Amino acid sequence: MQEFDKVGVVGLGTMGAGIAEVFARAGFHVTGVEIDGAALQRGRAHVERSLAKAVDKGKLTAEEERTILGRISFSTDRADLADADFAVEAVPERMDLKRDVFADLDRICPPGTILATNTSSLSVTEIAALTGRPDKVVGLHFFNPAPVMKLTEVVATVSTAPATVAVTAEVAKRIGKTPVVAGDRAGFVANALLVPYINDAVSVYERRLASREEIDTAVTKDAGLPMGPLTLADLVGLDVCLAVMDVLWAEFRSPRFVAAPLLRRMVAAGRLGRKTGRGFYVYGGADNPAEE
Ligand code: 3HC
Repeated sequence: MQEFDKVGVVGLGTMGAGIAEVFARAGFHVTGVEIDGAALQRGRAHVERSLAKAVDKGKLTAEEERTILGRISFSTDRADLADADFAVEAVPERMDLKRDVFADLDRICPPGTILATNTSSLSVTEIAALTGRPDKVVGLHFFNPAPVMKLTEVVATVSTAPATVAVTAEVAKRIGKTPVVAGDRAGFVANALLVPYINDAVSVYERRLASREEIDTAVTKDAGLPMGPLTLADLVGLDVCLAVMDVLWAEFRSPRFVAAPLLRRMVAAGRLGRKTGRGFYVYGGADNPAEE
């Protein structure tokens, strides 16, 4: 694999900040870019909190924390990605935003730089077509929480060069992840299975067949999954779940992929889960679901 160590991460929200942390922990030099100073400060605080938690738990020393933080530069200027060897975009799931980012990355980054998108619901092929280097555009789809979940999907389009897929899978391994190569179809592999399951759980709740606690307990205690589907929906973000359902529906037109009306209404109401403090549960503290 070609040796490189400079990685650009565009967007430092929940996923982007986690992705920047993962790369920095693995020894890469990371430039994290946000749209303005306030967003940058939130992204930086997210990384700092996560590393401080690891120190509190004795998983990192204070010196390792400093070293890892020292590997990340924070910027509001995408031009600072001019020497990035590998770039990951993790901005919100809107094609207009992706278009803007990829036009800039294509212009700013050296011609050999692989441009990866963390999209969970948009077409990687369509994003690749926005650039002059579709052979070097790939999906690198992380799972929430990015520092914890081992799985990454490496999404190859019809235009992606085999070498781009190979290098990206190798990068995923270097950051301690398990890459699974998937084709560019709605939901790729994991979300096409996972999100309809979450949606079914919303539907069960909506029809008052069980309480949210019963639904969540049924699959955690009794089926051994780490989290119930409604708790997971709150973690992933209800807007993200809805976006995935809508692309599955648009692509396959199967009744399996019709979004539960309640999911759509909750998104309309701004109850997006943990990130807005309220989804199926209400969040008082940083990580604790609180009863309504
Ligand atoms: N950031 C960093 N680390 C975190 C974290 C976060 N947001 N949340 C939890 N962790 C760490 C904890 O610090 C702890 O680390 P340690 O073992 O080193 O002490 C470890 O994860 C376990 O956490 P906890 O003990 O607090 O709690 P749990 O054992 O309940 O684990 C969980 C939490 C890892 C989130 C677990 O419940 C889980 O695996 N849930 C399922 C998550 C999942 O399925 N994610 C995929 C969603 S789909 C997706 O993201 C794709 C998108 O496109 C829709």
